[in-house]
Amino acid sequence: MSLQKSPIVRKSPSTGPNSPDIWGIYEPDTGSIQYICACPATRQTAVIDVVWNFDPKSFSTDTRSMDQVATIVADNQLSVVWVLDTHPHADHVMASAHLRDRFNAPTAIGEKVRDIATLWREIYNTQDAFDPERDFDRLFADGDSFTIGDLTVQVILSSGHTLGSVTYVCGDAAFVHDTLMMPDAGTSRADFPGGDAEDLWNSIQTILALPNDTRLFVGHDYGTATRAEPAWEATVAAHKACNKHVKTGTQKADYIKTRQDRDADLSLPDRMLAALQINLRGGRLPTAEGDGRSYLKMPVDRF
Ligand SMILES: [Fe+2]
Repeated sequence: MSLQKSPIVRKSPSTGPNSPDIWGIYEPDTGSIQYICACPATRQTAVIDVVWNFDPKSFSTDTRSMDQVATIVADNQLSVVWVLDTHPHADHVMASAHLRDRFNAPTAIGEKVRDIATLWREIYNTQDAFDPERDFDRLFADGDSFTIGDLTVQVILSSGHTLGSVTYVCGDAAFVHDTLMMPDAGTSRADFPGGDAEDLWNSIQTILALPNDTRLFVGHDYGTATRAEPAWEATVAAHKACNKHVKTGTQKADYIKTRQDRDADLSLPDRMLAALQINLRGGRLPTAEGDGRSYLKMPVDRF
C-alpha cells in the first residue's frame, strides 16, 4: 500500500506542565516527519529534522518543506531558539543552515557527528570538506541538556542507525528519529556506514525505559501493507506492547538477526550520496566553483 503523497500536519498538544506542544509535518517525497517543539508558556520553539527538498534525478533543490514549517511557526506566533537534527540524514537533505539564517537561531546535532564525518571523508576521498565544529553551532554530548523556554531538553546518545544519532527528550515527549519506526513497522535500518544492529537494540532499550506515557515521535513512516495513512506518534507503552521488532519479551539476539536479515534486502536511499555530503556541511552545498554553481562528488563502485 503506498502512502499519501501530500504534506500532512498534525498537532500533538501539551498534556500539562513541562509538556511541549508538538507539530509533526509529514514530507511525502522522503516519508520524513519534521517537528516543531514549543514551550506553551513562552512560545519558544525548536525545529527538528526539517527537510530541504532535493530532487534525486535533477539535483535541483527547493524550500517548500522548510517554508511550510516556517509558516506554521509564524501562524502560531512561535519564536525559534534551536534548529536541531538528530543525525546527519541519509535519505533527505537538511534545512538547518537555511533555518539558522531564517530564524537567527543556533544549529545543533550530536557530537559524534565528528566520527561520522571522519567515516565519510574517507568514502568521498575528501580530507577537508567536513568540519562539524565549523558547520554546527553546538555539538551535544550524551547527557547534555538545554532549554526551550521553560522546558528542559535532555540529549541521549542513540547510536545504531548511525554511530552518532541522538534522541531529544523534552518533558513527556521524545524525538527518537531513526531508532524506532511506528509499532506496526518496527525499527529503522542499521546498515549504513557506522551503523550497528546491537547498538540500535541497546539505544532502543534506553528509550523504552522512559515513562510509559512518553510520546515518542519517529522520523519516518512509509506505511505498511495494511496502512496507507502516515503516522508518527506512539507511546512507550504502545511500543512495548506491540512494536513488531522490539515488543516486550523479544530477545536481543533474535532482534539483531531480524534487523540484519531485513537490512540485507534494503537498497540505499536514492538521495544518500548527495545528501550526506551536504548534511555533513550542516546543510550547505560545497563552495561554488568559478561558474557560481556547486558540484557534488560521487564515489564509484563504493556501495
Ligand atoms: Fe536517518
